[in-house]
Amino acid sequence: APISPKVASVFRPALFKGRVAIVTGGGTGIGKAITQELLHLGCKVMIASRNEERLKAAAKLMQDQLESNTSAELAHMQCNIRKEEQVKDLISSTLSRFGKLDFLVNNGGGQFPSPASGISLKGWHAVIETNLTGTFLCCREAFTQYMADHGGVIVNIIADMWKGFPGMSHTGAARAGVDNLTKSLAIEWAHHGVRINSVAPGSSIYSETAAANYGDASIFEATVPLVPAKRLGTVEEISASVCFLLSPAASFISGETLRVDAGASLYSTRWTIPDHNKIPAYKWSTDVDEDDMESDSPRTPS
Ligand code: ADE
Repeated sequence: APISPKVASVFRPALFKGRVAIVTGGGTGIGKAITQELLHLGCKVMIASRNEERLKAAAKLMQDQLESNTSAELAHMQCNIRKEEQVKDLISSTLSRFGKLDFLVNNGGGQFPSPASGISLKGWHAVIETNLTGTFLCCREAFTQYMADHGGVIVNIIADMWKGFPGMSHTGAARAGVDNLTKSLAIEWAHHGVRINSVAPGSSIYSETAAANYGDASIFEATVPLVPAKRLGTVEEISASVCFLLSPAASFISGETLRVDAGASLYSTRWTIPDHNKIPAYKWSTDVDEDDMESDSPRTPS
């Protein structure tokens, strides 16, 4: 069968034949690339997203790319991962449609640029609920409804928040939470045959979705000098790392977070701090009361 020119993979073509995956946020950006590679490798994929119209359009496009004799199948379902009932429904509908659930890719998420001082409580909650709570709900339901009895593999997509995330502190906190959740679940669920890892893409991963979200493609160009590879990364480079972690090549890897950033998180920070003098050193007074010294300091011999 002709291989779709739109999709390439270093992995063997039928690697995920007979496997079933859920990819949240599977209609756009990194999630779409992951979905396309999973389909290319013969996987059956349920994509879920809050925005049904965008999801439908992406599903149609990827459906049309499917090779004629493939074992791959694609289904889509509207799901707001912040809503417990909708997440329960996503997992049970996937099980009804495909009969099993081998892989969960928690890619759905979102944030908006803002200094912390300008984040409303509503905005804060929205980002925490989508990125942290939504991921928790998807993990819990995949586990309780299927993986507890059958095992499975989970990959969470997080972010480069290793030195904090100035300018998007809400998502930094949420993604650091998912990093820690990954470790807890890796231990709690190991004896059920569940492996769970995270992938932390660098901010240098270019997707049209991300560029549109931040309203300005030039932020990506400004990133290039801070990337040791001196280029932007691609969504396909994230997808490859996700497929690796889902595959038996990673059968002894769990509780780990894989940074896919060409080393950028080791290199520098993009946050500029203006010159200022607002954090002065404490000025020790030479005018010390001797009685105070004696009563306060245990180092003073009595
Ligand atoms: N992608 C971004 N936000 C989402 C949400 N709340 N539910 C599902 N996918 C999403």
